[in-house]
Amino acid sequence: GRERQEERSAKDRQLDEARWDPSEGYLTTDQGIRVADTDNSLTVGDRGPSLLEDFHLREKIMRFDHERIPERVVHARGSGAHGYFQVYESLARYTSAEFLRDPSVRTPVFVRFSTVQGSRGSADTPRDVRGFATKFYTSQGNFDLVGNNMPVFFIQDGIKFPDFVHALKPEAPNEMPTAASAHDTFWDFVSLQPETMHHVIWLMSDRAIPRSYRMMQGFGVHTFRLVNDDGRSTFVKFHWAPKLGTHSLVWDEAQKIAGKDPDFNRRDLWEAIDTGQYPEWELGLQIIPPEREFDFPDIDLLDATKIVPEELVPVTPIGRMVLDRNPENFFAETEQVAFCVGNVVPGIDFTDDPMLQARLFSYLDTQLTRLGGPNFAQLPINRPVAPVANHQQDGFHQQFVRQGVANYHPNSTGGGCPVVAGGANGGFVHFPERLDGEKVRRRAPSYADHYGQATLFWNSMSDWERRHIIAAYRFELGKVTRPEIQRRSVAQLNRVDHDLAVAVAVGIGVSPPDRPEVDNHGRRSDRLSQATAPHDTI
Ligand code: HEM
Repeated sequence: GRERQEERSAKDRQLDEARWDPSEGYLTTDQGIRVADTDNSLTVGDRGPSLLEDFHLREKIMRFDHERIPERVVHARGSGAHGYFQVYESLARYTSAEFLRDPSVRTPVFVRFSTVQGSRGSADTPRDVRGFATKFYTSQGNFDLVGNNMPVFFIQDGIKFPDFVHALKPEAPNEMPTAASAHDTFWDFVSLQPETMHHVIWLMSDRAIPRSYRMMQGFGVHTFRLVNDDGRSTFVKFHWAPKLGTHSLVWDEAQKIAGKDPDFNRRDLWEAIDTGQYPEWELGLQIIPPEREFDFPDIDLLDATKIVPEELVPVTPIGRMVLDRNPENFFAETEQVAFCVGNVVPGIDFTDDPMLQARLFSYLDTQLTRLGGPNFAQLPINRPVAPVANHQQDGFHQQFVRQGVANYHPNSTGGGCPVVAGGANGGFVHFPERLDGEKVRRRAPSYADHYGQATLFWNSMSDWERRHIIAAYRFELGKVTRPEIQRRSVAQLNRVDHDLAVAVAVGIGVSPPDRPEVDNHGRRSDRLSQATAPHDTI
């Protein structure tokens, strides 16, 4: 990493300015006063009380008292690494994003992998979704691809996210279980909210116990847009494919490792990079021209609970990411990094996916609290390498001394900030999507199929994968204490696959359900399974 001076990125050079090595010179207070003794408080006599005037004691204790910041409300436990991304060939026909158009450019990145449910100190290997968040420090500003290691999400609308996370997190009375989805409130929520069925079956699969962060896929989940210089929009889904392949633990290993080495995934990533075995991913796109938006029966591209199967839209590889440097300081980098799906550069834009839309608000909002005020973009790990100039000012923890008198726009007083704005100067122009509709609180019928893709997933599994999934449902639902939640969960599973439901029911001592005749649309429930994908393409 850092020793390869010639390859040091713009981000590395920027971080240099923030690097602080207190290992030499004198011990001082925060005010730069040299300290004579840091082991003995100032007291009256050898055995007397401490004196309030001991500014070193006061400062040292005060600073210690305030070392903690709130952990992330989800994805609290994570591991980060620096690296770079390079596009294979220009995607100019799809996007005006420079970093996707110039194959000679290595864009610095910082990636944070995470679990979702557990707290900051929880183990690495519980059954859980893994976060895969990438910050690209591009010449046009930061682009954050804030994804997961599974291509779908539990809910279709971000307004349900607080409910979902409350149900997933440890239970309110006793804050148990610390890291697991094997408890009543999780299964209560998902069995009452059938749109979760598809993601839940992924969660019960071996995808939820990755062997290594280096061996995980990543997905942007939502459909995004690329927009080219002519203003043409193309729908895309982002896919990361690990060079080492996708590998999982088995459940027995995952449980034992959680006890023996709770830092298992964290250590693996750190040691691989430390010993020069730099992990790599290939970025791929599912590219969907706007004319094809409605070409996919049973799949609304704005529904985060659905995949677009790869036999319908193959993944086109577009570039490569290498992680080649460990953080120097966990807090300053991995903990203080602030990802936001709303951080996009010209040439990348949003769709109307209601999950994505809620996320656009949530990340920025939560970071105001988590990082103590509005200036968190100035933190070394968050600063773009692109120049920043605007009239935002002041606030807690402002790091810069603003120059000039003009802190408003328009102005003729000069200084402070250039007034150049507008699309012609590379300004971000939102895709002018044409919209017309009533204000309503309801979802289109195209979001209505909650079981079809869960069935598709199940049908795509090999026998041993199915055995693991059955065992996972048995283990997780077996921990549920309220029989009515277990019965309701089995009834939901029966709409995914009857044999699966029976196998789970038998395993947890619930009476097996009858075979359903039709699915929730009155269609035969095996209809989707006829279009089953081979298991390695899903
Ligand atoms: C954090 C992914 C849905 C709110 C994260 C992180 C990831 C992630 C990877 C960790 C970021 C980090 O390492 O710092 C996703 C994915 C989603 C999803 C892939 C669905 C497709 C949502 C929704 C909301 C939300 C719907 C809210 C409406 C948050 C919040 C954090 C977070 C508040 C903590 C951020 C921080 O404190 O820095 N999410 N998330 N997420 N997510 Fe999501």
